[in-house]
Amino acid sequence: MTEPDLRPLALVTGASRGIGAAVARALAPGFDVLLGGRDAGALQALADELPGSRPWPVELTDTAAVAEAVGGIERLDVLVHSAGVGLLGSVAETSAGTWRRQFDVNVVAVAELTRLLLPALRAARGRVVLINSGSGLVARPGWASYAASKFALRAFADALRAEEAPHGVRVTSVHPGRVDTDMQRGVVAHEGGAYKPDAYLRPESVAGAVLLAVTAPPDAELTELVLRPAP
Ligand SMILES: NC(=O)c1ccc[n+]([C@@H]2O[C@H](COP(=O)([O-])OP(=O)(O)OC[C@H]3O[C@@H](n4cnc5c(N)ncnc54)[C@H](OP(=O)(O)O)[C@@H]3O)[C@@H](O)[C@H]2O)c1
Repeated sequence: MTEPDLRPLALVTGASRGIGAAVARALAPGFDVLLGGRDAGALQALADELPGSRPWPVELTDTAAVAEAVGGIERLDVLVHSAGVGLLGSVAETSAGTWRRQFDVNVVAVAELTRLLLPALRAARGRVVLINSGSGLVARPGWASYAASKFALRAFADALRAEEAPHGVRVTSVHPGRVDTDMQRGVVAHEGGAYKPDAYLRPESVAGAVLLAVTAPPDAELTELVLRPAP
């Protein structure tokens, strides 16, 4: 339980931009927020905007750096995994290196950070939210390695949820469709289409789903949330 004189603590990866930055803004009124990412300037700018937040800069695939960065976190109320990469391509054109990078960032780094923070999450009976994707539910042509990483992330979340239930830790997978972020710009550039921000979800809408998951009352566990851009 959080002591009454302490604000609860959240760690948001991928907070330097996109969905993670929106999640940090949504959590900031109620939480002290550690802002994960690599772009130190962007993290500091967001920290200046959000009282109680501070940069938590780390390359998530560097296991030694991550182990050092989690030092001192003894109680964690909320962990939001938003950092990710979206490397697209057909099976025919996707190299082993791309498969490894996609899984390294989207799956292995998530598993390792979660593992290292489990004692702190258990201490707070905390919430873990994983920003998954529609691609964690359906795999489309040209999206094999990304979708496979997100299917794996969903499997990880499901196992984690069952394992950690006795410790009071709740786990939610959030599956957004297309969101207006830098990643989506890269996707649309790869597909060769026109960028249509009005046709995509806003990052703030995904952040709203995260807030719903972490503020759910004790009798309710939100296991999966699926968001689609409204037609
Ligand atoms: N955009 C969409 O349409 C969409 C749809 C469904 C799901 N998602 C998922 O939502 C999540 C966030 O996506 P987004 O659109 O917000 O992406 P984004 O705008 O490209 O931002 C990606 C974030 O991840 C961080 N990051 C990437 N690799 C990292 C690494 N190795 N170590 C540390 N941080 C790393 C980046 O940090 P730096 O910039 O500081 O390097 C950045 O903050 C991803 O998991 C993505 O798969 C996105």
